[in-house]
Amino acid sequence: HRILLLGAPGAGKGTQSAKLAEEYGVDHVTTGDALRANKDMETEYGTPRSFMEAGELVPDPVVNEIVKTALENADGFVLDGYPRNLEQAEYLSGITDLDAVILLDVDDEVLVDRLTGRRVCEECGANYHVDFQPPEEPGVCDECGAELIQRDDDTEETARERLEVFAENTEPVIEHFREEDVLVEVDGEATPDEVFDRIRDVVEA
Ligand code: AP5
Ligand code: ZN
Repeated sequence: HRILLLGAPGAGKGTQSAKLAEEYGVDHVTTGDALRANKDMETEYGTPRSFMEAGELVPDPVVNEIVKTALENADGFVLDGYPRNLEQAEYLSGITDLDAVILLDVDDEVLVDRLTGRRVCEECGANYHVDFQPPEEPGVCDECGAELIQRDDDTEETARERLEVFAENTEPVIEHFREEDVLVEVDGEATPDEVFDRIRDVVEA
């Protein structure tokens, strides 16, 4: 399977990609996690951190290289967080074909609530929400017991900036796949398990 999962910040891409990678035994390739793991890497454009903390896109050459290397080494993948603009979409079409292109559809105000309430485990990558997916003990990871943190870019101000960057840069990517008639839209406003069932139906159709 070569699956592309598109959606706004907070739509549930990370949550669903992890489940899909496990279900189908493919690699989870996510530019957001890759960049967070290399936030202070020096590039000719500066560090990823400076862009991410402002909610802006990290420059294309940096991100394209990450994706190219990850896909070269993958035997099947679910790709999340990329492409985020038309230049990245064009680059991607030069390096791989896709079997499914899925858009997770979620209303803007729901997105802001999901982002500002998210808590993550830096140790194992597990993902929580203070209201929608709370850990058993507040602030502590169920999986590994480490302390949960809030991402630097999950303040309301930066979350809204990310939604604007998405509308401006990534909506055209969605439009591009829609015009190619390969886009399948999935309603992302349901429980994570229900959304997963909807995605699985698309992948296995
Ligand atoms: P990235 O990490 O990709 O962030 P994003 O696209 O903003 O997506 P998120 O991780 O915020 O949300 P998600 O859709 O994965 O939702 P999640 O499953 O966590 O990118 C971060 C930054 O890196 C960018 O701003 C940019 O600077 C840089 N970057 C990354 N890729 C780039 C690229 N290609 N080019 C340039 N720059 C790039 O869910 C969110 C919350 O909701 C969680 O708390 C979760 O528990 C909860 N939740 C999930 N599903 C449900 C549900 N069904 N019901 C209720 N709650 C739910
Ligand atoms: Zn953990």
